[in-house]
Formats: sequence, structure tokens, C-alpha cells
Amino acid sequence: MPSRDAGGRGKGTSLRGPGESASLLLNIRQLLALRSSTGPRRGRDFSDLGLIEDAAVLCIGGRIVSVGRTRDALRDSWIRKNRRKIREIDCAGKVVLPGFVDSHSHPAFTAPRLVDFEKRIAGATYEQIAESGGGIRSSVEGVRKATRAALAEHVLAGLKAMLAQGTTTVEAKSGYGLSLEAELKSLEAIGDAARQWPGTVVPTLLGAHVVPREYEGREDKYVRIVCNEMIPRAAEGKLARFVDVFCDRGAFSPESTEHIFFAAREHGLGVRAHVGQLSHCEIAPLLKYDPASLDHMDHVADDDIAALAAQSVLSPAYQTVVTLVPGANQFLNLGRFPDARKLIDSGVPVALATDYNPGTSPIASMPFVLSLACTHMKMTPAEAIAAATINGAHALRLAERKGSIEPGKDADIAIFDVGDYREIPYWIAANRCHAVICAGVET
Ligand code: NIG
Ligand code: FE
Repeated sequence: MPSRDAGGRGKGTSLRGPGESASLLLNIRQLLALRSSTGPRRGRDFSDLGLIEDAAVLCIGGRIVSVGRTRDALRDSWIRKNRRKIREIDCAGKVVLPGFVDSHSHPAFTAPRLVDFEKRIAGATYEQIAESGGGIRSSVEGVRKATRAALAEHVLAGLKAMLAQGTTTVEAKSGYGLSLEAELKSLEAIGDAARQWPGTVVPTLLGAHVVPREYEGREDKYVRIVCNEMIPRAAEGKLARFVDVFCDRGAFSPESTEHIFFAAREHGLGVRAHVGQLSHCEIAPLLKYDPASLDHMDHVADDDIAALAAQSVLSPAYQTVVTLVPGANQFLNLGRFPDARKLIDSGVPVALATDYNPGTSPIASMPFVLSLACTHMKMTPAEAIAAATINGAHALRLAERKGSIEPGKDADIAIFDVGDYREIPYWIAANRCHAVICAGVET
């Protein structure tokens, strides 16, 4: 496949036994290769899917080695010589794209919140439910009581549901333990589940999800526990890559968020935050800490958009991505969605994620999130796919490995049983995911 081989497979390439398994995807009706650029997708390049028709992809040892047309692959001398050792996957009539990167999820919980669900159906808002004893705090007891193994089972169930719909990389937050012990247990359970799952999990410490009942009215004291105990222990045990904060009305103040970001940075962890979900929060002070992502952004001012768009000039490689989670707006029946069009048209890099959690978004399906993004946020199918793959990878600072099908990247691939990529968001609430490949292995 000389036309698109970026040099990943040189003349000397050989298959070195069972560890070096090779697979060749052939006859792909539409391959969405995406393509890495210096930073996340934004502005005019946002929706360039790098579409190749009748395409082929060669993977060796868990990595993508070359990408091109089927006819070139079948003529390739190395492929012809090794064909008997290569596992072939016929993708005739199908669409192949990078596995989705779900860059925002909360899978470390033990039970659905069905009382909250019924209260909302009866007319209560998310904040009213939280004030009356439901919400995040009502998931805490279950997590504190659960054994690490039981919690890991719950996390794994969520990860499996995500994989079944084409997701191969997931950011997984703690955040329902809200004590040193229960937050560390949650991160350990996420690690245990990750080791039993074929995809890639990026763990995040969300000790600052809400102030737990026993610290009610003493936010500062709890923030000190997050900064002085949780963050150092999570960093020392390599249990988390990021620290997240729910910075909003009823959760943590911008000042507390800055303290937590500072502590995270001191311990070598990246930062991200929930902002603007319930009320507006000024973004500029948080950008000093180089957050990988700021998420929700239902309430956003023009100044914030300008500050986010300006980063591409200041720091093209490391930009803060805005991760939109329309599943939460849908499930809470808010009657409005974040203004994705304004963000994208202003040059802000946008990602899409499920926000999988028991309170606001019991949604494991990235294709469903894409449907919501297209219908309610006026994103094009191409923008939605770029937001859910390459920009999700940037939101996790993993774009050198994930989010596109290019030589050298991890062979994390989703095969959809559709003839046109626009069908992925079109068949709403259906699962058209035919197969998933993680690190070169079909799951
Ligand atoms: O992203 N807003 C904060 N966290 C979650 C909700 C968690 C919950 O209600 O359990 C969210 O929507
Ligand atoms: Fe969330």
C-alpha cells in the first residue's frame, strides 16, 4: 500500500511469532482515517475525516502499520509474501473508523438512581433533587460499603457496554467515595476493571465532586483533604492521570478549584473540570493551569469563548478542549443544549463524550451522543465523529496514540455495519457496531 504508507512498515518488517499478530482489514467501503495535526481539530479543518473508499488497513503487533486502498494492499509484495500468517477481516459494505474516545465518564458507582429518576419525571430539577437528599451524595453510601472487587465489577459492566458500541478508550473518574479511603478504592477498582478490559482506560481522581455530608459547610477543610491527602496518594500510587473538579453552584468554588489544580500540578497530574453546567464560571483563571479539558459548558460567555479560541495561537499543541456531554442535557430534560455551533465557529476545539453516570447520564453509547450532537447541537455528522475520536484523544492528551487510523498509532478500530458514516448518528438509539479491535485484537 505504498500510496499512504507513512513508513511504519519498512522493507525489513517481519512477523515475530504469536506476539506479533498481524491483521488486514480489506474492502472497507468507507475508512475514516481522521488525521493528526499539531493540535485538536478546530475551525475549518474540524470535519476533515480523511475518508478513503475501498480501503485497507494493516495492523501488526497492536499498531497500525499502513493505510491505503484494497487493490494496492493486495498487490503489496510484503502482504503477498506473508498472507497466510495475516488474519484477514473482510469489511465489505462497512464503515471503519477509529474506536471512539469517550473522554468523560463516571463508572465507579454501584446502583442506578431510580428515586431521582422518578422525582425528575414528577417535575423536580437536578438541584432540587440534590437538595432533598438525592444527587451525587446519595451514591456515596453504596460505594463506601462496596468491596473493591464489587466496585470493579460495576466499572467493568460500564466499560463493556461502552465497548459494545464502538468505544475503545475511556476516561473513568472516581467521585462517589468522597473520603480518602473510598476515593482510592474507587481508583483501584477502575484500575482492576481496566486490566480486565481490552481497551484503554484513563483514570481521573474526582474527589472534589461535591462536599460530602460530614463536611457540610466546611468546603475549605474538605478541599485540604483533597489537596493534601487524596492527590498525593493517587499520584504516588499512580492511580490517576488527571484530577477533576466539579466547579459550580452547589459544588466547589473557582477558588477551591484553583487550589486543587495547583496541588494536582505539584504532584505531576493533569487537570480537567466540570464547569458551566448549572451556572456560569469564568474560564480565563483556570486556563493558567493548562486543563486538558473543560466539560459541560452549558453556560458560557463570549469572553470565555475568546479565551479558549486564543489558545490555538499561544500553544498549538496543548490546547484545552471543550468536552460537550449532551446526554446529560437530554436525560435531565433541560430543554437546551450547549451552543456547539458558536464554540466551533469561533475556533474552539470541541470533543463529545457520554458523561456516563447514574445521576445525569446513564448513557454508554457514543453513537447516541453523536445523534444528540447532530440533532440538538447542529453539529454535522463529520464534526461529531471528529469530536468523538481525534478531539477526544486530545482531551485526554493521548493524541499521539489514539483517535485516528494512521501508521504508528494504536490499532484501536471500530467497524460499523453501515454503508455511509452519516448513518452512525442517523440510526438513533440503535447499535450498528459490528466489531471492535483493540490493540490489533478483535474483541
Ligand atoms: O457530569 N456534574 C457533576 N457530575 C456529573 C453528575 C453526577 C451525578 O449526578 O451522579 C455530571 O453530570
Ligand atoms: Fe461528569
